Amino acid sequence: MNQPKRYLITSALPYANGLKHVGHLAGAYIPADIYVRYLKAQKRDVVFVCGSDEHGTAIPIQAKKEGTTPQAIIDKYHVAMEEDFKDLSVDFDIYHRTSSLLHHETAQEFFTKLNDAGELEIKETEQYFDEEANSFLADRFIKGTCPNCKSDRAFGDQCENCGRTLSPDELINPVSTLSGKTPIKKKTSHWYLPLGKHEQFLRDWILKEHKDDWRATVVGQCKGWIDGGLQSRAVTRDLDWGVKVPLADAAGKVLYVWFDAPIGYISATKQWAIDNNKDWKPYWEDKETKLVHFIGKDNIVFHCIIFPIMLKLHGNILPDNVPANEFLNLEGDKMSTSRNWKLEMRDYINDFVKKENGGGQCVDMLRYYLTQIAPETKDSEFMWKGFQDAVNSELVSIFGNFINRTWVLMHKLCGGKVPVLHTDLLDDNDKFLIAEIEKAKTTIEELLEQYKFRDALFEVIELSRKGNQYMQKKEPWIVAKQLATNPDAQKSIDNTMHLCLQLSANLAILINPFLPNTAKTMLGMMKVVDKMLDWENAGKLKLLSVGYSLREPQLLFRKIEDTEIAEQIEKLKAGLKESATAAKENKPQQSKPMIQFDDFAKLELKAGTVTACEKVEKADKLLKLEVDLGTEKRTIVSGIAQHYSAEEMIGKQVVVVTNLAPRKMKGIESQGMILTAEDSDGKLQLLKPENPVSPGSNVS
Ligand code: 2FM
Ligand code: ZN
Repeated sequence: MNQPKRYLITSALPYANGLKHVGHLAGAYIPADIYVRYLKAQKRDVVFVCGSDEHGTAIPIQAKKEGTTPQAIIDKYHVAMEEDFKDLSVDFDIYHRTSSLLHHETAQEFFTKLNDAGELEIKETEQYFDEEANSFLADRFIKGTCPNCKSDRAFGDQCENCGRTLSPDELINPVSTLSGKTPIKKKTSHWYLPLGKHEQFLRDWILKEHKDDWRATVVGQCKGWIDGGLQSRAVTRDLDWGVKVPLADAAGKVLYVWFDAPIGYISATKQWAIDNNKDWKPYWEDKETKLVHFIGKDNIVFHCIIFPIMLKLHGNILPDNVPANEFLNLEGDKMSTSRNWKLEMRDYINDFVKKENGGGQCVDMLRYYLTQIAPETKDSEFMWKGFQDAVNSELVSIFGNFINRTWVLMHKLCGGKVPVLHTDLLDDNDKFLIAEIEKAKTTIEELLEQYKFRDALFEVIELSRKGNQYMQKKEPWIVAKQLATNPDAQKSIDNTMHLCLQLSANLAILINPFLPNTAKTMLGMMKVVDKMLDWENAGKLKLLSVGYSLREPQLLFRKIEDTEIAEQIEKLKAGLKESATAAKENKPQQSKPMIQFDDFAKLELKAGTVTACEKVEKADKLLKLEVDLGTEKRTIVSGIAQHYSAEEMIGKQVVVVTNLAPRKMKGIESQGMILTAEDSDGKLQLLKPENPVSPGSNVS
C-alpha cells in the first residue's frame, strides 16, 4: 500500500466514572502512544485523539455512589484521567470531552443526517421500568444474572464478568439498580439502527478485505457477531443524562452513549483543528487518511460493526485497522474495581513515579513491562515479580548495562570523545555488528507497521544484547593493557568504542517510541538535539561525529528491590480484604427476595465425603470431585480450584445440594453443588459438619 497521506489515531474514550487501571493502559493507550511516536518520528502527518466518555448510565450511578451530581463526577474524573495519562507519558494531541458543546452539536448533526436519510427506524417496544424511581431502566440501571456465564454481576448492557454485550431482556432475574426492585415492562419508542441491512458490506469489508491484516481475534469476534445475526440496535435511550435527541417529539430521550461516544473522536479532531488552526475534514473524509482505533476487546463490536456502519452512512472514511487487545489480569486474577483487585495508574504514579526525581525512569519501566506482556493475541498477566524481573534482568542488565559500559569505557579509553573508525581494520565482529544495526531498523519498522509492539520491543532489547556480546568479544579493557606493546591496540579500541557509540545512538532512536524518557536521557548524554531521534536516522552509522565530546553517563534504570514488590503485593491483598469487609458492612441484610419455608424445603442437602478429586483441564477455577453420598457417588464440578488443591480435598466432608438439575461445565456433567462461605480475604471456606457424619446424612 502506498504511504497514507495522513493518520488519525484514536484511543478508546475512557468513562469518566473512576480512575483507570494498568489493564486499560496496556490495552488502548500505551500501544497507541508507541505507534504515534513512531509515526511522528517518521515525520508523518498524524493526529492522536482521545478524551473522556462522559455519558451513559455509568455516570449517574457513580454520582449516586459518591453522593454528588453527574456533572461533579465527570469534572473530577476528566481532570484526573487526563493527568494520569500525562504522568505516564501518553501524549495525546488532544484530550477532549464528550460533555462539550462541540461534541453535543457534532453528535446531534450525525444523528439528524442519518435520520433524515431514512437510515434509522422508529420502533415501539416494551422496556423495563422502575415504578418507584419512575424511570426506564437502560443499560447499567438494570442488573441481573448473565445468561452466558451466570455471574450475578451483569448489567443491562454488558456482563462485568465475561464481557459479553447484553440487552436488558437477556438478563435473568433483572433488578433495578435505582431501587433494588423487580421492574415492570412499559411501552416506549426509540430510534434503531438496522444493522442487518449492512451485513453484506460488513462481510465484504471485514471478512474478505481485512481478513489477513486485522488481528485474528478481532476478525473472529466480528465473524461471530455477523454469523449470529445482526439485530437492529436502539441508538436512543429514555434518560436525562446525555446528548438530547435533536427532534421535537423526543422529549426525555438522549442518544445512546455508544452512539455518541465514538463520534467523540470526530469532535475531538474538530477541537484540535480549532486549537491548531487546521482543517479537520480531511482526517475524516479523505480516503488517503489512515484511521486506526486502539481499543480493548470489549469494545470490538462498537468499533468494527456499529461505528463503521454509522461512518459509512454519514459519508466518512472507515478504520484501516482496529488492533484490539485482549485483557490483562493481575497476579492470577481478573482485575476488578468492585473487588479492589487492581493497580490503578494513579497508584503506580504515587508509589513509583512521584517518589523519584523526574520519575521518567519509573514511567518507562512500567511502559516497558506493559508492552512486554501486552495482551495482543490472548489475555496476559501482570505479576509484580514479572515486573521486577523485566526491569532488573532486561532494562538494567542488558539495555542499561550496555549504554553504561559504553559511556564509562569511552571516557576511560577514548578521552570522552567519539573515536575515529578505522575502516581498514574492521574485523568480523565489527562487520557483524554493523549489519545488525542496519537490519534492526527494517525489522522493527515492519513489526510496528503490523501493530506487533511486543515483538518490536523485543528486537530493540535484542540489539542491545548484541551490543553486550560484541563488547564481550572485543574486550577493549583487555586490549588497553597492550597499549604500550601493540601499535594497533588504540585503533582496535577506537573501532570498538566508535561502533558501540553509534549503536547507542541507534538504540535511542529505536527505543524512543516505547520509552520516550529513556531516549531523552540518552540525548542528554550524547549532547544532541531531538532531531537525532528522527526515524530516518535509524540504521545509520554516522550519527555521532568523530571527535565530538560526550557527557558523563547517567543511570538509565534503577533496580527494583524485593521489598518494593512485597509491599505492592501486601497492598493488593489489603485492598481485597478492605473491599470484602466493606461489602459485608454495606450489604443489605437481605439481598434476595423473601421465600417461604416451602421454598426452602424444596432443597435437598446431604453431607458427603470426597473420595477423588482432580483439576479440570483448561479451567483455572474448577475442580472435579467424586463425592460419596452413602447410597451413591456423584460427580460434582466446583469453582474452588483457587482455594483448595485437588489433593487436599480428598477425604474432606462437604455439604451437597443433591436435587439441583445437572449442569455441564467444560463438558463435564455436574450432579450437584457443594456449599462454601467466603471469608474476609475472599477465600472460599467449605461448609461441613462440625464432627464427621456418615456420608448421605441429611442436612437441614
Ligand atoms: O469501554 C469504555 O470505557 C468506553 N467508554 C469506550 C468508548 S470508546 C469510543 F467509542 F468512544
Ligand atoms: Zn457473563
